[in-house]
Amino acid sequence: MSKPSIDLLLNRDRPLTCLTCYDYLTARVMDQIPELDMILVGDSLGNVMLGYESTLRVTIDDMVHHTAAVGRAVKNCYLIADFPFLEAALELSTAVRSARRLVQEGGAQAVKIEGGERNLELISHLTEFDLPVFGHLGLTPQSVEGFGGYKIQAKTERTIKQLGRQARALEKSGISALILECIPAQVAANLTRILTVPTIGIGAGADCDGQVLVWQDMAGLNQGKTASFVRKWGDVGKYLQEAFTAYCGAVIAGEYPAEEETFSTAETLSDEEIREMLLSS
Ligand code: KIV
Repeated sequence: MSKPSIDLLLNRDRPLTCLTCYDYLTARVMDQIPELDMILVGDSLGNVMLGYESTLRVTIDDMVHHTAAVGRAVKNCYLIADFPFLEAALELSTAVRSARRLVQEGGAQAVKIEGGERNLELISHLTEFDLPVFGHLGLTPQSVEGFGGYKIQAKTERTIKQLGRQARALEKSGISALILECIPAQVAANLTRILTVPTIGIGAGADCDGQVLVWQDMAGLNQGKTASFVRKWGDVGKYLQEAFTAYCGAVIAGEYPAEEETFSTAETLSDEEIREMLLSS
């Protein structure tokens, strides 16, 4: 396997697959899965890696740091990195520098930017310079304060129209794909038919061109409350608890480490000889 180009990637004749990732070892596991097309270093790292209540405190340095960790492992999947809160609102040259950091220091092949019309200038600029950009509309978590909480978006005529306008403007500005988060399935399905760029859904129904989930949610490491659209394919939290408990039990019982888990000296020495050596200088 080798890294796909954006065109090859997005023109698959099956639904696209994407998971979030934030660290080297998990990325190495993910990258060995031929059916996984994309890895997103999302700013959800604020919630699942750093313990913040929202994504608002995640910085560009956090994003570069985690993208680089993932980037060192990823050889096959397409790697996308998130722009954190208000990064796209900075002066154009500063925002461009941030995108460059995610690519040059992090190893990202594309950046994702939340929001619509307010980002058009930046998106056009980046895509003009051949950096693929993924858009993100619907329940964009960076707008949680503006939305008054994590609420399903595009449910009414006014907000459906607004979503359509923003999506069409993003498409015109040159985005490669559009993430749609927490919107009614019927709205996502119709928007997917209208747009020429692929849509990738998270809580947006089955008719998007692909799906993305936060891995800690779908694999059951997150033992807190997850959104109703999340399906769990594993119980990593339980497996880890079992392993941690078994380790503590083995240490307490004096059963770990066993002989085959210890090292020996270069030549056979008595305890007395070793004690003498340890005390001799
Ligand atoms: O930050 C993130 O992980 C995301 C995805 C959930 C789409 O934006």
